[in-house]
Amino acid sequence: MNELPRRVWLEIRLDKLTGNYKKIAAAVSPAKVICVLKANAYGLGVANVAEALAGAGATSFGVAEPYEAIQMLRLGKPVQILSSILPDEIEPMVEAGVTLPVTDFQTAKRISRAAKRIGKAATVHFKLDTGMGRLGILAKDAPETIRRVVKLPGLRCEGIFSHFPYAYASGSELSNHQMDVFCAILKDVARDGIVFAKRHIAASDAINNFPRACKPPFNYVRTGINLHGSFDPMGKRVLNVEPVLSLKTRLAQIRQLPAGTTIGYGLTYRTPRRMCVGTISAGYADGLPLALSNRGYVLIHDIPCQILGRISMDYTVVSLETVPQAKVGDEVVCIGGEGPNAIHVEDWGALKMTHAYDIICSFGNRVERRYSWPISSIGDNRNNL
Ligand SMILES: Cc1ncc(COP(=O)(O)O)c(C=O)c1O
Repeated sequence: MNELPRRVWLEIRLDKLTGNYKKIAAAVSPAKVICVLKANAYGLGVANVAEALAGAGATSFGVAEPYEAIQMLRLGKPVQILSSILPDEIEPMVEAGVTLPVTDFQTAKRISRAAKRIGKAATVHFKLDTGMGRLGILAKDAPETIRRVVKLPGLRCEGIFSHFPYAYASGSELSNHQMDVFCAILKDVARDGIVFAKRHIAASDAINNFPRACKPPFNYVRTGINLHGSFDPMGKRVLNVEPVLSLKTRLAQIRQLPAGTTIGYGLTYRTPRRMCVGTISAGYADGLPLALSNRGYVLIHDIPCQILGRISMDYTVVSLETVPQAKVGDEVVCIGGEGPNAIHVEDWGALKMTHAYDIICSFGNRVERRYSWPISSIGDNRNNL
């Protein structure tokens, strides 16, 4: 049987994605860009997203863990694990040529031993914890650890990096302190002739709020969310990047409900009069936040239609009072559209009191990813609009 079209789909504009990449690259130049495509490119489908970015000139990629790194190797570009590496993951990653994070001396020793065992140098970047409190070498230990690690055989100590927890304008004190600490570590080890080819701290927030983080001594930035045209809810939006995705579904049923009918689980909405309502074929399993219940809207024929009652797993009821021409099967825009009624990832983020990352990473498995141009990808999620 031919594959049936799915009920819910994401339209991903690879032309806008690559346009965003080029805008970011131009804004931070001469610093270079590491495209962060962890978590399946934030859920959009890493095979197609990576291939599009590589075609637009992207030269290196960052991921969170080995499974993600392996998926990227076919592009033949440097791939770097940005977080941590477990002991049993080291050897296959060195074999594969993935750039690894040095989060402590023990890890560096294990990488060195694996490199010797398989006779292949391992490229590593030191991961400094200058204030994130999550992973890496504590700043106070960094100079000594770096001095010891660079003496280990089999390592190509190419880079050093850190991460900001709070790189909004309001987080300036901590962020500036982190950069000062990073620079002091660079200076300290430079006294022994230790210098790194790649030095990076900025992710999307800092690119928009801390120009200093994109200038020497820093010569690389890492960006994820800005590639998708989204931003953190706080801080400045300096880059003129555009949203790349629309989430769509179809109208499954249209009914006239008598006055006083309750809608959905929890009886949170009661029709105040006889009403025309539509049931759309998307729910929280597709990524619609429960927080949209009785608060969000969708677009049908470009007209806003209020969500009524609680979002269910697979279906959501909307008012059709403003769209009498609606028919079963009509397209429903959950995110997307043009002009003042357009619905943005950030609008959902505000209703859910969360950020764009959470919204984008929450689109469900059954949501088809459709791409705006054909890509010769071998990965999953390869569909074309
Ligand atoms: C270490 C590291 N670098 C870069 C990024 C990319 O961040 P953003 O999507 O905000 O650009 C992340 C994302 O969480 C990260 O953990």
